[in-house]
This record gives sequence, C-alpha cells and structure tokens, in this order.
Amino acid sequence: MRIAIDGPASSGKSSVGRHVAEEFGFGFLDTGLLYRAITRRALDLALFTAPTTAAEVASESYEALRRELTGLAKVTDVHASGTHFTMAIGGFSLSDSELEAADVELFVPVVASIASVRDALRSVQRSVAARGGSVLAGRDIGTVVLPDAECKIFLDATAEARASRRARQRGYSVGSKEHQEILVSLLARDAEDRARAIAPLVAAADAVIIETDALELSDVVQRVVSEARKVVR
Ligand code: C5P
Repeated sequence: MRIAIDGPASSGKSSVGRHVAEEFGFGFLDTGLLYRAITRRALDLALFTAPTTAAEVASESYEALRRELTGLAKVTDVHASGTHFTMAIGGFSLSDSELEAADVELFVPVVASIASVRDALRSVQRSVAARGGSVLAGRDIGTVVLPDAECKIFLDATAEARASRRARQRGYSVGSKEHQEILVSLLARDAEDRARAIAPLVAAADAVIIETDALELSDVVQRVVSEARKVVR
C-alpha cells in the first residue's frame, strides 16, 4: 500500500504524511529532503559559483555543474531509523534542521529542475516505497515516482495561508519581516516547481484534492486516513 501526497511548498505534506504513516504503521519519506540534501551538500562544496536559475542551469555553460549535482544525486541514500529516514550523501549524514536554511530554499528548485538528478532520486524513492507500506510526500509522487500508488492526495492552500503557517512553525509572528520573506521565497519556489519542464508540480488526474485553508491539521489527517482506508489492504 503506497500513499502519495503532493502539493506546493508548506501545504502541510510532511505533518500530514507523518501522522497518516503513524496511523497505519507505515514508513514516511519527505522526498523534498532528498533535493534539499543535495543542495546543502552542493552549497557546502561551493559548487554554485554564480546566481543560478533553473533556466540557466539547463544551458551548455552549466554542464559541469549539472554533472557534479548528478554525481551527488547518485550517491544519495536514506538511512531508516524506525519509520523515519535521514538523508545521507556518500555516507555523509545531513540532519533535517540543516536542510531548512534560506540558501537551501533559494537553490533547491535549480537542483530539482535537472533531469539526471531526478532520475537518480527516483530510484531511491521507489526503493523506499518497495519496502512495504509507505507514505511519500513531494511534488511528483502521484504523477511520476509512484504513478500506480493506491492512494493519491494533493494538498493545496493559498500562498498566504501557507506562509502564515510556516512562519508560526518557525516562531515568527504573522506580519513580521520574516513572514514576508517566507511568503516571497515560497511564491518563487512554487513558480519554479510549476513551470519546470520535467515532473512539474501538478495534481495527478486521479488524486483527491484537499483544500486546507480552513482545516486544522487533524481534519486533514482524518480526510487522508479515510481516503486511504477505502483502498487499504
Ligand atoms: O517539500 P520541500 O519544500 O521540502 O521541497 C523542496 C524542493 O524540492 C521543492 O521546492 C522542489 O523544488 C523540490 N522537490 C521536487 N520534487 C519532489 C519533492 C521536492 O522537485 N518530489
């Protein structure tokens, strides 16, 4: 049984996914962490030498960068501890908290736009899903990674609601400078994720779409659990 949860940035995929996985005793993989881990490692290795956009990185002059990022993707793996997964690149572990930084969020859509990076990460994601009952959260799980998942969910919410939620999670008040920065970064990331040529952010045709603006986390979890129970075996 595989549950795919897709949606834009800060739509609640990880919190919902974690609770739903707990409910069924499944593993939970937040696939955004894979792209974030490569980005963190690339930043630490100073691979991004200039402001780089997804459009630029597709050009011939960035072939070397694409190759290096693909090399990192090929040695990316996850370490399971119970139902939680930690990201590792070439045996080098990265904590979830290291992957939230603003510089990671700036460059992660660039990394995620590279076809060969996505190809390498698809195998990691599929091997986690093949281990048994699993919940995977991301952008292209229902469309590309697990197109035959038994249960597909697409979580959506307005950018304002998502930015407020993320600001509160990080301890900033709504209306603060940090809240505004979160909104701007989230809109930029959504735009890149929706516009990219490969595996763009889009709901699968057979996904159940849940608008979460007016819902509490527990309501969303309940909706997803009840959708999954319709197909659980
Ligand atoms: O979900 P999260 O915000 O952590 O994802 C970080 C970034 O990773 C996204 O903005 C997107 O560029 C990329 N991503 C992706 N496909 C996924 C998961 C994440 O392209 N399945």
